[in-house]
Amino acid sequence: MAGRIKIFDTTLRDGEQSPGCSMNINEKVEMALQLEKLNVDVIEAGFAIASPGDLASVQAVARAVKGCTVASLARTMEKDIDAAWEGVKNAASPRIHTFIATSPIHMQYKLKMTPEQVLERTAAMVAYAKKHCSDVEFSAEDACRSDWSFLVRVIAAAIKNGATVINIPDTVGYSTPDEMHALISHIRKNVAGIEKVDISVHCHDDLGMAVANSLAAVRAGAVQVECTINGIGERAGNTALEEVVMALNTRKQYFDLECRVQTKQLYRTSRLLQAIIGIAVPPNKAIVGANAFAHEAGIHQHGVLAERSTYEIMTPESIGVPQNTMVLGKHSGRHAFEDRLKVLGYQLEKEELDTAFEQFKALADKKKVILDNDLDAIIGNKVVEGPEAYHLQSFVINSGNTITATAIISLDSGGTIFESVSIGDGPVDAAFKAVNNIVGMDLSLSDYSLHSVTEGEDALGEAIVKLNYKGRTAVGRGLSTDIIESSIKAYLNGVNKLIAETGGE
Ligand code: KIV
Ligand code: ZN
Repeated sequence: MAGRIKIFDTTLRDGEQSPGCSMNINEKVEMALQLEKLNVDVIEAGFAIASPGDLASVQAVARAVKGCTVASLARTMEKDIDAAWEGVKNAASPRIHTFIATSPIHMQYKLKMTPEQVLERTAAMVAYAKKHCSDVEFSAEDACRSDWSFLVRVIAAAIKNGATVINIPDTVGYSTPDEMHALISHIRKNVAGIEKVDISVHCHDDLGMAVANSLAAVRAGAVQVECTINGIGERAGNTALEEVVMALNTRKQYFDLECRVQTKQLYRTSRLLQAIIGIAVPPNKAIVGANAFAHEAGIHQHGVLAERSTYEIMTPESIGVPQNTMVLGKHSGRHAFEDRLKVLGYQLEKEELDTAFEQFKALADKKKVILDNDLDAIIGNKVVEGPEAYHLQSFVINSGNTITATAIISLDSGGTIFESVSIGDGPVDAAFKAVNNIVGMDLSLSDYSLHSVTEGEDALGEAIVKLNYKGRTAVGRGLSTDIIESSIKAYLNGVNKLIAETGGE
């Protein structure tokens, strides 16, 4: 019987702490619920001690998620471990994840501790964490640059004091697959009590080998892989979850291992993360990139038409890529709409379904044919809504190559209508300036992008903006068949998030 690999997702912790990837509490919960649908084994929800906001997010994820273990990270310090426990104690299945560095370079320059002190701290803090929680993961940070005999002693001490999972991080992405295989084999052979715990691996991608290193560890007997959606994370990122999962699936006979991830949710999860953080994956990204299943060369197209498996080792359907066949139109009724959503794997509550149907009807008025991609765009990757301080009422744009662009914008705020007129360097700039006049905040726009979600002249355009205000950044997203409308909606989505976080003061 095939062995089982556990998937530990750290998108909300290691991924979220990397530049440009921060998420607010609503976004983290939305992402966690999608990870639950994806059926990962563990969600690392954050680093609870980092700030009151981080603690609140870990608590919110712990309350919302029922089907996976929820973990919080902690240094080997009592105050960190207390905060981590505060974060996860209400989870259906809580875990404390505590770590300390074991490499000479980290111990000497970062921790300023001797190896013996690190050993003692490990034993004491794993025991301390164990008093709170039966499930304790211990990570030896920078394990791959540590002295192997010292590492063996530290891991043995963690196990003796109650660790249930031992994680071996390649913190700086320095290892090669052969070295990783040798290290895990050495640990399995030499650590007392290792057979009682799960061995985990956590690889960074600095040399582009994170996925290969994780799979090498698995071949050597690791049973948990730590990874992130789209491979986001510190510096060059972490092991990409979708790549590990599809390698295990596509090369089942080679690995003889299984994981419980619902692969049909992979594409949707990747798209949701891109929408939340406003960072698109490159088109050639393995598994979830736009070109991952595109065959351009004539010889390849010919082969695929004759027999898909000539050039396709896995199908787009297996990761849930929506199909671009005509599905619904203006005259489709609620039943057809609901049926299609079921096929796509959505289970919506009545209220969500009502809103979704309204959005669908509004879109069908503008767009002849509604494809699965459109449904995914309006429902699956929906804009994460918080409280809406301002809502777009109407806009009028006057623009051309011989006149200065002018925008008249009306916004509804709690029933009161505010209107402003502004000129700008093009229609989008004029519209954003008119919004600024109304909301009266000193906002700066650090990023703006626009892309079409589906093909055709009446495709849905998705605008993504990054707005900064008083040291905070928010990603806003807007969808419409009109690119100016999607841009204004994206801008307002970002403004509303910043108001929710700062009060707009
Ligand atoms: O990269 C790393 O070493 C980590 C640990 C805290 C697990 O993220
Ligand atoms: Zn890491």
